[in-house]
Amino acid sequence: MPEYELLSDYPLLAHNTFGFDVRAKHAVRLTEEAQIAALAQDERLKGQARLVLGGGSNVVLTKDFDGVALLMDLRDRRIIDEDDEAVYIEAGAGENWHEFVAWTLSQSFPGLENLALIPGTVGAAPIQNIGAYGLEMGERFERLRAIELLTGETREFDREACAFGYRDSFFKREGRGRFVIVSVTFRLPKKWTPRADYADIARVLESGAADNSQAIFDAVVAVRQAKLPDWRVLGNAGSFFKNPVISAAAFDALKAQEPEVVSYKQPDGQFKLAAGWLIDRCGWKGRSIGGAAVHDRQALVLVNRGGASGAQILELADAIKRDVHARFGVDLEAEPVCL
Ligand code: EPU
Repeated sequence: MPEYELLSDYPLLAHNTFGFDVRAKHAVRLTEEAQIAALAQDERLKGQARLVLGGGSNVVLTKDFDGVALLMDLRDRRIIDEDDEAVYIEAGAGENWHEFVAWTLSQSFPGLENLALIPGTVGAAPIQNIGAYGLEMGERFERLRAIELLTGETREFDREACAFGYRDSFFKREGRGRFVIVSVTFRLPKKWTPRADYADIARVLESGAADNSQAIFDAVVAVRQAKLPDWRVLGNAGSFFKNPVISAAAFDALKAQEPEVVSYKQPDGQFKLAAGWLIDRCGWKGRSIGGAAVHDRQALVLVNRGGASGAQILELADAIKRDVHARFGVDLEAEPVCL
C-alpha cells in the first residue's frame, strides 16, 4: 500500500489564503495518485470527513476541522498531445495556477494569459471555473481525472460532465465533497485570438500590444496587483460574492431607480450586475467588523486585517447582503466554499 504520513492536530494557517488559524484533526500530504486511492481503504480514517485543500484560496474555514485534510501536492506538467488545431497540456492538481500559466506561455502556447495571477492550484481551477478579464477556464478545458473519495476509483470528466457555469461546476453541486481532482488537461488552440477588450486591460495595454499574449499577461498582472490585495500581505479569497444575474424586467426596474448601476447584458437577455459596485454604493468599501474588512480598492473582496475568524468574515458578509438586499432588492451569493 502506498505510504503517507498521518499528521495529527495539524495547523491549517498556511493552507488557507484568508489566514484563519484553525486546525485539522488529521492531515496527509499527497504527492501521488496511488496515495489517494489508498486513503479510501485506510481503517484509521474510516468514517472521517475529508477536506481537500489545494491553495486554500476559495474556502472560509470557520472552525477546527474534525476530519482529515488532504493537502494536495501532486506536481507535473507536460505536453501530452498535439493535432492540427491544438496542443493538449496536462498538469497535476497541486501545481500552482499562476506558475502553470506562466510556463505555458514560456513554452510558446498562449491561451491562458487572461487568467494570470489567480491564486490557488490547477486542481482547484475547474471547481469554480475560474475566470477573469473576458476568459473562463472552461473555454480552455479538455478533461480532468478525479478519484472518488469513498471508493478510491478513478474517473475521467469531460467538459460536459463538468457542467461549467459562471463560477460554478458539477464539483460545487452534485459532486461536492465526493471527488479529489488529481490532474487537468487543457486544450490550447494553435490559432490564438487575443481577448483584450475588458476595459481595465485595454487601458493598460500599450497601443498595438493587444496581439501579444505576453503583453496581455503583463497587463492582467498589473491590473490585479493594483486592485486586488495579495493574500500573503492581507488575507483574502478573491471576490467574496458572485456577480448576481437578474431578469430583464428586474433590471429595468433597478435601472430606473439607480441609473448608474454597472451591468453586463447576457446572451440569454438577463443582466449580470457588478456586485462590487452594489456593495460600494451601500458605503461598505473600507468598513470592518473586528479584523474582518471590505477591501478599500475593490468592495467585492473581503479581507482579514489580522486576527479575524471565519465566523467574523461571514458576519460581515451577512451584513453586506442585508444592506444590498434592502437597497437594491438583489440577493448576493458567496463565491467561496464556507465550511
Ligand atoms: N466597482 C465599483 N466599486 C468597487 C468594485 C467594482 O464601482 O468597489 C465597479 C467597477 O468600477 C467596474 C465594475 O464594478 O465598473 C466591475 O469591477 P471589476 O472590473 O473589478 O470586476 P468585478 O466584476 O468586480 C469580476 C470577477 C473577478 C475578476 C474581474 C475581472 C467575479 C465574482 N469577480 O470582478 O474575479 O478578476 O471580474 O474579470 O466574477 C475572483 O473571482 O476572485 C475574482 C477576483
